[in-house]
Amino acid sequence: METFSFQAIAHVESPYKEKFGTPRQPGLVATTLGHIHLREDLNPDALEGLAEYSHAWLVFVFHANDSFKTGKPFVKTKVHPPRLEGRAVGVFSSRSPHRPNPIGLSLVKIEKIEGRRLTVSGLDLIDGTPILDIKPHLPSIEAPQGAFEGWSAQVAAPRFQVAWSPSARADLLRLTPHASDDARADIATAIESILKLDPRPVAYRGTDENPDPYMSRYGFRFEGWNVVFEMKDGVSARTAEITVIEPWRS
Ligand SMILES: C[S@@+](CC[C@H](N)C(=O)[O-])C[C@H]1O[C@@H](n2cnc3c(N)ncnc32)[C@H](O)[C@@H]1O
Repeated sequence: METFSFQAIAHVESPYKEKFGTPRQPGLVATTLGHIHLREDLNPDALEGLAEYSHAWLVFVFHANDSFKTGKPFVKTKVHPPRLEGRAVGVFSSRSPHRPNPIGLSLVKIEKIEGRRLTVSGLDLIDGTPILDIKPHLPSIEAPQGAFEGWSAQVAAPRFQVAWSPSARADLLRLTPHASDDARADIATAIESILKLDPRPVAYRGTDENPDPYMSRYGFRFEGWNVVFEMKDGVSARTAEITVIEPWRS
């Protein structure tokens, strides 16, 4: 068996600190910013010319997969994407993090390049993700005419309503004393966008008989905060109500 060994060329600084609450694909939470820090021994001229492009591909390692902790490689050939609620597909027709080589690919918007730091928006990567490569997106080649999507286009993504409790609004104000109104609105929009798409893994969603196995209350880590939300039944759709935003304590 051929093996290859690569060194990360950069690491990600991201507001998403854990898998839960991280968007499932890039662009779903478009306003969120992240920074890619190039390795110290790489000359920043490696990034020269990239600012002329609007988007870049990030090739990265799913370093937070359990397989790295257990040392047991992932060998399954079928995976259960959250949107298929139980149905399995072949791993290579999926974007699952659990694959024979845990390598991911994300298209992000380039915002700014300063020295070794590349600022991007719309990322779907957690803090500390090792980057193996960065490549410009070439829309003339990478948006082929007649391209079509398979099973992922046939399953509607969940759409929740999102509500704020008055105390959660007050929490956000209190925790961002120096933010401008626009910056605070961006944070609120990011949190709402995460919740609209139902960040809960399939196992957390329960069954018809027991729809909320975790007592309807969940928390995810975003920036330096724990964002707590509760699932409620709204008039026409399920509602995720943000109830508390508090400093993250490990
Ligand atoms: C479904 S994958 C898609 C990633 C990439 N766009 C792709 O298609 O290869 C995105 C999910 O991977 C998880 N994830 C992000 N960064 C990770 C990391 N460094 N290690 C393990 N899982 C990660 C998060 O749960 C995120 O929602």
